[in-house]
Amino acid sequence: MEPGQVAIIGSGLIGRSWAMVFAAGGFKVKLYDVAQQQLTSALEIIRKQMKDLEESGFLKGSLSVEQQLALISVCTDLKAAVEGATFIQECTPENLELKKKIFSQLDLIVGDSAILSSSTSCLLPSKLFTGLKHVKQCIVSHPVNPPYYVPLVEIVPHPETDPSTTERTYALMKKIGQSPVRLNREIEGFALNRLQYAVISEAWRLEGVISPADLDLVMSDGLGMRYAFIGPLETMHLNAEGISNYCERYCEGMRLVLNTFGPVPEFSGEAEQKISQAMSEKIPVIPKVLDARRKWRDECLAGLSKLKKQMKSD
Ligand code: NAI
Repeated sequence: MEPGQVAIIGSGLIGRSWAMVFAAGGFKVKLYDVAQQQLTSALEIIRKQMKDLEESGFLKGSLSVEQQLALISVCTDLKAAVEGATFIQECTPENLELKKKIFSQLDLIVGDSAILSSSTSCLLPSKLFTGLKHVKQCIVSHPVNPPYYVPLVEIVPHPETDPSTTERTYALMKKIGQSPVRLNREIEGFALNRLQYAVISEAWRLEGVISPADLDLVMSDGLGMRYAFIGPLETMHLNAEGISNYCERYCEGMRLVLNTFGPVPEFSGEAEQKISQAMSEKIPVIPKVLDARRKWRDECLAGLSKLKKQMKSD
């Protein structure tokens, strides 16, 4: 039985990655964008990425590169792009007005069953979908960059989203090998960025206490080692005889430290200059250098994702 058909709206970084994840899962993918040139170059990038992944042994799914590429077609007509699709993943720039316009166009085209999903990183479902005729079919499926290697997807419903939309989206994400998590209600930053910003803001406040390079090591060679496998709550559970015992032992110390956390940083001025200078010395802000470092990061993530799979099956 065929897995089905999806439409991806916007063929930039995230749209291309979704297209590859769905094609790896055997889905027919229609990739839509405003300009043919953008789509032509998106297809070229996807082909190259798939070839590289095949060479390094990280291509997902059981189909060959050619079979996966054959599942992806491109289109500059929105109606044709979504025709027959059971799931539509919007991946246009993070601009509320633009996204609202696209969803209101989709609202006029789709029937009563296709799911309308947004990749937005921080726009709340109530801002995106309120007033749409098909609001029950609308949801946010927020991926993590790069979704091909980092499987988490935050599923965030609008208050009027039908529970079946959430269930179907969750099941679909599982089916294509992603790792979905459900938020019961919308909240600024969803869960991932709330955690990420908590870490970033404390990293910022520690400027002058520890060098930027050492600060990053605290995460990459310290906390991050554990966090690739277990979260902060399981960390608490395992670092004592269970959560309650952890709270008993460490709550006073935690509160003491937490009370020394300062206000939200401005992310400007002297701290910004110092952190920027240190980071730029390590990784100059030159497109070629940044791209090489991103490529290395993605290779690390691909290797980690392989290791995580092995550890699960052992
Ligand atoms: P991007 O700028 O790489 O791609 C946007 C694409 O949308 C471009 O191909 C552009 O031609 C196309 N586009 C512009 N107007 C359009 C329209 N009216 N109709 C159809 N296509 C249109 O952006 P990126 O990074 O792929 O982000 C897309 C979404 O994913 C954003 O909402 C972003 O917040 C979210 N996201 C991004 C992450 C990231 O790290 N880049 C991570 C997770 C989510």
